[in-house]
Amino acid sequence: SRPGRMTERLLPDPTGLARAASLLRDGRLVAFPTETVYGLGADARDDHAVAAIYAAKGRPSFNPLIVHFADLDALKPMVTWSDEAEAIAESFWPGPLTLVLPLREGARVSKLVTAGLDTIAVRMPAAPVARDLLRAAGVPVAAPSANVSGQISPTRAEHVAASLGDRVDAILDGGPCKVGLESTILGLAGRPTLLRPGGITREALGHVLGRRIAERHGSDTISAPGQTRSHYAPRAAVRLNAIEFEPGEASLGFGEVEADLNLSPSGDLTEAAANLFEYLHRLDAKAPKVIAISPIPHLGLGVAINDRLSRAAADR
Ligand code: TXA
Ligand code: MG
Repeated sequence: SRPGRMTERLLPDPTGLARAASLLRDGRLVAFPTETVYGLGADARDDHAVAAIYAAKGRPSFNPLIVHFADLDALKPMVTWSDEAEAIAESFWPGPLTLVLPLREGARVSKLVTAGLDTIAVRMPAAPVARDLLRAAGVPVAAPSANVSGQISPTRAEHVAASLGDRVDAILDGGPCKVGLESTILGLAGRPTLLRPGGITREALGHVLGRRIAERHGSDTISAPGQTRSHYAPRAAVRLNAIEFEPGEASLGFGEVEADLNLSPSGDLTEAAANLFEYLHRLDAKAPKVIAISPIPHLGLGVAINDRLSRAAADR
């Protein structure tokens, strides 16, 4: 723990960005916004700093982290680059996409980041605050979502503060995250494989590569160690595909239904994704026994939303 230390609240102005960057270079933990969710960042080359991420999250150490970069020049020396990686990067970076690539031998990165795997997850986020911070820090930044392991992901600075308390040295407050769901993870270390659905669909990736993207199998624990079934869990039980809501349930609607909160009354999946974690946080705060959720169409961003919801509903 960090006896006597208060978490600094920083704004993304020049002073706040410089302070956040200098904390990162000093091996401290800084939560920062990306367009997907808030990340809990640390210098990816610093074993102590990366260990502090795992400690703050209470995260099993076999679950590897995504490393964030401001530009391709800093990213490429870490990995074995390929034509497929180039095509994907050109189409989707900066953006809500993570690539898993072979780790280049001699790359300067803590072994704790990759959890001993011979691959590494890398990402170039699009949110201006994230890009400004990464550029100012000048170091690769390892960052999982900035929440205690297994809890709902943070899409606002207040969510980070509520989940991690003073276990983080600073929180850079850039307001709500635009996408609101974690990045799509595409494995390119072997056959192109969708490791986690997210803001960019499997179809869009397949279109750029001119080939079908394989789907990960539920039992495939080696290629995506973090994809445990129970995840993104509110304290309440979760009931999916609710056509009607029972008395006493907290209700989360989609489309033209009456509910406590509605992800998108007009049935817009992009709006629903952006609201998902914030609304789960809000309903859970009222400590209901059950949160009942309307069916979400299983297409486009709906695939990623349903992935997170089924994990939230999984036995735990
Ligand atoms: O949108 C996001 O991706 C956010 C922001 C902060 O960038 N980050 C995020 O990180 O969601 P996290 O740690 O919650 O999820 C990272 C996922 C985990 O499921 C982990 O197992 C997987 O990436 N992963 C990391 N390195 C991997 C690797 N070498 N091979 C396969 N999966 C990997
Ligand atoms: Mg997470």
